[in-house]
Amino acid sequence: MSKAGRLHGRRAVVTGAGSGIGAAIARGYAAAGAHVLVADLNLDTAQGLVAEITAAEGVALAHQVDVSQQDSVDALFTYADEQLGGVDVLVNAAGVLRRQPFLDTDEESWDLVLRVNSLGPLLCTQAAAKRFIAQGDETRGAGKIVNICSTSSRQPTGDFTAYAASKAALLSLTQSTAKGLAPHGITVNGIGPGIVDTPLWRADALTLQDRTLEDYAAKIPLGRVSLPEDLVPTAVFLACEDSDYMTGQLLMVDGGMVMV
Ligand SMILES: NC(=O)c1ccc[n+]([C@@H]2O[C@H](COP(=O)([O-])OP(=O)(O)OC[C@H]3O[C@@H](n4cnc5c(N)ncnc54)[C@H](O)[C@@H]3O)[C@@H](O)[C@H]2O)c1
Repeated sequence: MSKAGRLHGRRAVVTGAGSGIGAAIARGYAAAGAHVLVADLNLDTAQGLVAEITAAEGVALAHQVDVSQQDSVDALFTYADEQLGGVDVLVNAAGVLRRQPFLDTDEESWDLVLRVNSLGPLLCTQAAAKRFIAQGDETRGAGKIVNICSTSSRQPTGDFTAYAASKAALLSLTQSTAKGLAPHGITVNGIGPGIVDTPLWRADALTLQDRTLEDYAAKIPLGRVSLPEDLVPTAVFLACEDSDYMTGQLLMVDGGMVMV
């Protein structure tokens, strides 16, 4: 692992890192020299990724978390304190998607999606920010939060009512957190993926079986759906000192789907 890595020695908690976008970011952070806590509801996939990162001479640990539960989040960050000695970067990537036409959107889906996608980042950000402030470590920087938002944060569609609301809330949370934590030098930014080929998209978005990934790709200006790896350079940028004068921003990495 290169000592010249842009995240050398930074301690990163990545939620949802057992799969898809979170896993790609965890891999990318480890390759850039970070010590990564791979946090996921699914401990098996988290442990599998840790084995892969360790085999590539990276540093990673796994921990199970349900980001929508305060006790579980507290336990995750206590583990980070014990095993990594603190936290410098948090990536909120854990998320769920329910594709439901607007009139079918039900209370159970609404509660689940809003709890995981919006409340989860709030709880994790509070836990991380308290540590950033207490650490006050000038050699490591003040602390970085990266929220995985969505094109739905800016442009909702009728088939993803709860999801779009959760991602609009996450964008608002990104901006209010950025303002609230700016006096501490902590930066908080979002990444807006479009359609990324992950289990989440395949399992949930395509459940109605009326559209294929190719159908979606045809509507993307750059002509293809995203791979999780497309998001990694931006995630590294937002976690290192190159982005120190940026906060409260949403960077769209969506092949040109949303231009505002
Ligand atoms: N795939 C896309 O097209 C797309 C587009 C825009 C934004 N996103 C967002 O990117 C993020 C990652 O999505 P993905 O596509 O990689 O999905 P994914 O299903 O591949 O990965 C999501 C991970 O989150 C974990 N998770 C779910 N609920 C959790 C909980 N309560 N606590 C902890 N972990 C939990 C899952 O176990 C899974 O490992 C999500 O926030 C999603 O909304 C995805």
